[in-house]
Amino acid sequence: MSTVVVMGTQWGDEGKGKVVDYLAEQADVVVRSQGGNNAGHTVVVNEMAHKLQLLPSGILYKGKTCILGNGVVIDPGALITEIKNMQAKGFDTSALRISNRAHVILPYHQLLDEVEEQARGAFKIGTTKRGIGPCYMDKMARVGIRIVDLMDEEEFSAKLERNIAAKNHLLKNVYGVEGFEYEAVRKEYLAYADFLRPYVADTSYILSKAIKADKKVLFEGAQATMLDLDHGTYPYVTSSNPIAGGASVGSGVGPSKLDKIIGVVKAYNTRVGEGPFPTELNDEIGNQIRETGHEYGTVTGRPRRCGWLDACVVRYAGHLSGIDYMAITRLDILDELETLKLCVGYKYKGEIIGEYPASLKVLAAVEPVYEEFAGWKTSTCAIRKYEDLPLNARKYLERLSEVAEIPLGIVSVGPNRDQTMILKPLF
Ligand code: IMP
Repeated sequence: MSTVVVMGTQWGDEGKGKVVDYLAEQADVVVRSQGGNNAGHTVVVNEMAHKLQLLPSGILYKGKTCILGNGVVIDPGALITEIKNMQAKGFDTSALRISNRAHVILPYHQLLDEVEEQARGAFKIGTTKRGIGPCYMDKMARVGIRIVDLMDEEEFSAKLERNIAAKNHLLKNVYGVEGFEYEAVRKEYLAYADFLRPYVADTSYILSKAIKADKKVLFEGAQATMLDLDHGTYPYVTSSNPIAGGASVGSGVGPSKLDKIIGVVKAYNTRVGEGPFPTELNDEIGNQIRETGHEYGTVTGRPRRCGWLDACVVRYAGHLSGIDYMAITRLDILDELETLKLCVGYKYKGEIIGEYPASLKVLAAVEPVYEEFAGWKTSTCAIRKYEDLPLNARKYLERLSEVAEIPLGIVSVGPNRDQTMILKPLF
């Protein structure tokens, strides 16, 4: 058995795409199990950058089965555009499989995402406005439309008609905006259905067979621990479960079949959207990190909030997901800093707190406890062996590993595939 889950430990944008891509080359099957086109991976292959939102990174290699599991929410228009783009670049998409149990994002989900954000005013979440939250709301409310319904004209039409009537009522009477015309949406989506039909399958069986046949299966996480609906900084979270357990629920693979969990840790912290961020830097160093690291959203282009690496967050992620190894990304972005700070604890009302606070009021008031490290002031981009990293860089990483209680597995010093040091065999 050989299954690996790659997941984010912070607020997303850790560079999971790079780690996933590295492992995808060795995998037979690559699976997405949560989120939708709110995610954005940039993967660099042969010096060429590919932006993926829904398609698993395995799409970049021939002969890999790529799965969008039941836990993913699918905007068919966006997915078809992505498939066509990849096809135009010469990639083979024939091994893509979409779960018949995945939920479909409809135009009213996107509009609701927008008007609900507007109505929240100062309490806005800062969503990607892709309709993710409203689609998961319908799933939980048991009125969602699944891929299996979309494939059946009669079922789809009946469910859509009911849903459009209900959403139009809500849009008009609560938010004062125009709703949607049933027949236009029906036609648009039935055309999508025809395009997607060859890709639809009961993907949990494909995975079960692959695991029994000892194939290498890679679960590609989207978003990250602190955006987890249950365990993140609620309500400033996404509407799915990006922690390791989500890979099981969102793909129909039993938890005992998940072999190894890799937590991706960016060498500093970033966050997009609203919500507390204890180590945020609203100063020159924050700007320097943003500019050096091109920290702007892949999906929305928004500037990301930047800050010092928070080992409390990483330790919390390790505990929630049972992370076996950390994959450190973007160490090279810190190459020029004089000194670095690592947050090793939180103080609240003068006392060190051991557990990650559930209350955002507490989290917003904590004072980070920092340890300072001398910078290494030299480029790490060309380094290929961990032992060859500057001593100060190793000191920084080893202290993180100690505080987070997770061993180092991978260290990445640039976007290209060869800029990756493997400390532990992962597959
Ligand atoms: P939603 O997922 O669009 O509902 O957005 C909810 C929160 O999750 C917002 O703060 C988003 O900025 C954040 N978010 C969603 N997807 C990503 C991602 O891939 N990277 C980073 N943040 C994300």
